[in-house]
Amino acid sequence: MKTTFSIIKADVGGWPGHAKVHPSLEAIAQKALLESQREKLIIDFHVTHCGDDLELIMTHTNGVDSKEVHSLSWDTFCEATEKARDLGLYGAGQDLLSDAFSGNIKGMGPGIAEMEFTERKAEPVVAFMMDKTEPGAFNFPIFKIFADPFNTAGLIIDPSIHDGFVFEVWDIQEHKNVFLKTPEEMYDLLALIGAKSRFVVKRVYPKKSSKLPSSEPVSVISTEKLYQIAGEYVGKDDPAGLVRAQSGLPALGEVLEGFSLGHLVSGWMRGSHNGPLMPVSVKDAQCTRFDGPPRVTALGFQLKNGKLTEPVDLFDDPAFDLTRRKAQEVMDYMRRHGPFEPHRLPMADMEYTTLPKVMEKLGSRFKKVK
Ligand code: 13P
Ligand code: 13P
Ligand code: MG
Ligand code: MG
Repeated sequence: MKTTFSIIKADVGGWPGHAKVHPSLEAIAQKALLESQREKLIIDFHVTHCGDDLELIMTHTNGVDSKEVHSLSWDTFCEATEKARDLGLYGAGQDLLSDAFSGNIKGMGPGIAEMEFTERKAEPVVAFMMDKTEPGAFNFPIFKIFADPFNTAGLIIDPSIHDGFVFEVWDIQEHKNVFLKTPEEMYDLLALIGAKSRFVVKRVYPKKSSKLPSSEPVSVISTEKLYQIAGEYVGKDDPAGLVRAQSGLPALGEVLEGFSLGHLVSGWMRGSHNGPLMPVSVKDAQCTRFDGPPRVTALGFQLKNGKLTEPVDLFDDPAFDLTRRKAQEVMDYMRRHGPFEPHRLPMADMEYTTLPKVMEKLGSRFKKVK
């Protein structure tokens, strides 16, 4: 059986500021998805949040880009936005860039990570959700998981993954993609994805030699860049991603290991600062200090005929305490740089600050240096 696994997410209002999602918005989503499950549009679902981003995790058989599933998500975000307005939540409707739904939610503000695949006998899937960062934040862990033998022991010792994987990389400025094989093209891959604000990993595929179908993705990341969609900065593209694990893929622990550094990502405070990505439990998925630090949560499911088990909150574990502690130290160190790069993003990447206006104001006072 082929199942479609979708995460569709949007910030439709923060509580307070950009800290987290109000429970009444999650309740609206819960009700809407339950109704669609009863009507058999979706098979199963789980509603959650990461920081101020409302996350709809859904399984169905409609394939990716399904008009019905996208429309359900859009309507749910619109209903939640109304509630956010009633409650006076911050930035109500932040990520909804249009008033009219045109059949596909892509390019309208929400982030989308979906993949259709043939379920194995036992199918572990992890949903990763991030706040206060951008899609390129996934480049580092996805590379570690599927291509770094120091992270994933199976690349060396498990014959079923020893041949490596294929990475689909998007150039989000030029709107082009390229497929690169690891390990043989690893250096080319890294040359691109190290530039994480421009090149992002979109999907990972098994190779032809794998026992898994090489046309079905084993990982997918949301890559929508809001400020590019909107032509000007409107909100932030806090991403989500899906990773399948085990039996011909990295083990669950190899997948989680990819997040053990607390690596530096962009998108903290006003979308304009670099900081460490801290893996946290859902209960700690609220952004506080300097609106951060950037956070990632991981919910692990077993999937059977489209049905989901209860999720396991995978970063709710002392094994990640040291990563969190390190992230806190790095956060403190970065913060001491105040308005200086590389804590603040370089000029070209400054998103929604008043910096361009400051430059404009000073314009006539700049004199040519002789
Ligand atoms: P306001 O100062 O308009 O509230 O917005 C900036 C902001 O929310 C950055 O986090
Ligand atoms: P969100 O993109 O999560 O709304 O955060 C805005 C921001 O930059 C807060 O400082
Ligand atoms: Mg927000
Ligand atoms: Mg957010």
